[in-house]
Amino acid sequence: MDKNKDFLLLQECERRRIAEDLHDTTVQELVYLLQQLELSLIYFDKDPAQAKLELISARKNIRKIIDGIRDTIYNLRPMSFDDLGWNSSINKLYDELNAFNINVYFDIDDLDTSDGVTAITIYRIINELTKNVIKHSKANNLWVNVIKADNEICVIVKDDGIGIIDFNKENHFGLQFVQERINLLSGNFSMTTNNKGTEFTISIPI
Ligand SMILES: Nc1ncnc2c1ncn2[C@@H]1O[C@H](COP(=O)(O)OP(=O)(O)O)[C@@H](O)[C@H]1O
Ligand SMILES: [Mg+2]
Repeated sequence: MDKNKDFLLLQECERRRIAEDLHDTTVQELVYLLQQLELSLIYFDKDPAQAKLELISARKNIRKIIDGIRDTIYNLRPMSFDDLGWNSSINKLYDELNAFNINVYFDIDDLDTSDGVTAITIYRIINELTKNVIKHSKANNLWVNVIKADNEICVIVKDDGIGIIDFNKENHFGLQFVQERINLLSGNFSMTTNNKGTEFTISIPI
């Protein structure tokens, strides 16, 4: 029963997050794009040069919207994960994180993706925790460690940033997702956080 509720809760959170994602990026950008097009129509006769500038800017915004939609789709089901499997997806994440001003250290065992759910769930957990480090922690260093033992997978995500002040922030679901996903995999997690950084240690039975 609890598992079913966990699952439903996770599904509701996901739906909410997708809706928010689309609203905050795509819809707002489309509204802005519409305004730009209206503006260029107004300029069209009396100031064609200005109208052209608006159109050039609108074209740039359309590209941005396309990228935003691609990101949303990617987050729904990372295509590289299906196509490339664990190692390449992890390498892709490493490259993404490395583009920010932070030192990234990955030490990650190869995981079996054949059950279709465990590895991708762990990937999503690592994705959320590491993106949080980039967004919130102000850390200089980020360490990610995945150790595959005989009967469990252990994941450690650690940063040397400012620590988590508000774990259960209203209308923020990332960490809640992480907890739900660990529960659904019958795993455990512990967290230590203070003004020298944050460390998550997660174990998933296999
Ligand atoms: N590694 C971290 N370092 C510092 N603060 C963090 C870290 N991870 C999460 N937080 C804090 O916890 C809050 C909740 O995180 P989360 O549930 O993922 O929501 P979101 O990332 O959407 O803000 C964040 O808004 C942030 O204030
Ligand atoms: Mg988050």
